Amino acid sequence: MNKLWIAMIAVAGLAVAGNALAAGDVAKGKEKSALCATCHGADGNTPIMPEYPKLAGQPHDYLEKALRDYKSGKRKNPMMAPMAQNLSKEDIKDLAAYFSSLSGDLKVKY
Ligand code: HEC
Repeated sequence: MNKLWIAMIAVAGLAVAGNALAAGDVAKGKEKSALCATCHGADGNTPIMPEYPKLAGQPHDYLEKALRDYKSGKRKNPMMAPMAQNLSKEDIKDLAAYFSSLSGDLKVKY
């Protein structure tokens, strides 16, 4: 019985670690976001041009997909394509985690 419990706790622990990895790392995303800030703003919410999108508070999945699509060429933009080219899968997850964790104008405030 004890061994079974230990096994169950170990499996649960792995599942949590696995989720964290799949969701990206907010702190690492912040470290990797210096270049992004030059256009999207240091807080992801104050882009340098009004037509540049705000990233703060956008859904993680959406941000991750947008970056993947810029990288693959599915979504075309002369400014973002070269940005996404240099990002690894992990970078994309970390950046998506970071920007989605920020609260910008796009998040509903109660
Ligand atoms: C030279 C300016 C510039 C830099 C630097 C830049 N971006 Fe962008 N970004 C843009 C512009 C302009 C768009 C809108 C492009 C479009 O319409 O598809 C955009 C769009 C995006 C989008 C899609 C947002 C949406 O609402 O659909 C994401 C996600 C994004 N950028 C993430 C990043 C990340 C992460 C970095 C840093 C690795 C970065 N950007 C660096 C200018 C920039």
